[in-house]
Amino acid sequence: MSVVQRVAVFLSGRGSNAAALLQAQQQGRLTAGRIALVVSNRANAAGLQVAAAHGVPTYVWRTVAFESPTLATTTLLGVLNAHAIDWVVLAGYDRIIPAAVTAAYAGHIINIHPSLLPKFGGRGMIGRAVHQAVLAAGETESGCTIHWVTDALDEGGIIAQTRVPVLPNDSADSLAQRVLEAEHQLYPETLQRLLGSSLTCHEATHVLPTPVPTGGKEFK
Ligand code: GRF
Repeated sequence: MSVVQRVAVFLSGRGSNAAALLQAQQQGRLTAGRIALVVSNRANAAGLQVAAAHGVPTYVWRTVAFESPTLATTTLLGVLNAHAIDWVVLAGYDRIIPAAVTAAYAGHIINIHPSLLPKFGGRGMIGRAVHQAVLAAGETESGCTIHWVTDALDEGGIIAQTRVPVLPNDSADSLAQRVLEAEHQLYPETLQRLLGSSLTCHEATHVLPTPVPTGGKEFK
């Protein structure tokens, strides 16, 4: 494994978390890793432009373009290998990651989810639907969660969370915006901690060793 860990960011759309990670890298807040590749399942994902603007290579991985799912997965693993990727960071990637990829990167693959998992996770809980469900449930707080990616959707061990309040007049959009701002802080900070950690984890259940209870954030 390289000293500065090489990171692939996976995204499907806007890419604001990818932008936050790249900005953190540019500003010297993310030094333990280097974003070496951005992968998207959509050729028109805005996040690909964000990557290109930072000079980061991109790869569009459309499974339908392959003869079989196995060939698609093998090809993706080959691309990750060719770029010497140590870590996979999901940032708004809206497809299930194949089991062969979670296995190859076990303990080195993480995701950010826009709720306080285990609440409001799982099938269908993406984008606006998450915030609508939080409001419908009458929650007084929400937030974002960074967790290990395993084959059980949104169920990998929790690494870090930031809590934000749900305000009385919130719409799904206003709550989404508040959570997104928290995501943009939490993802670079957590990635720096994870990549800089002496932790050598090969199991998806490992968590960060030191709790850092600052500014309403919980590292579990
Ligand atoms: C974020 O809210 C993230 O938590 C979720 O997908 C959204 C991606 O937004 N997994 P962006 O593409 O990073 O702007």
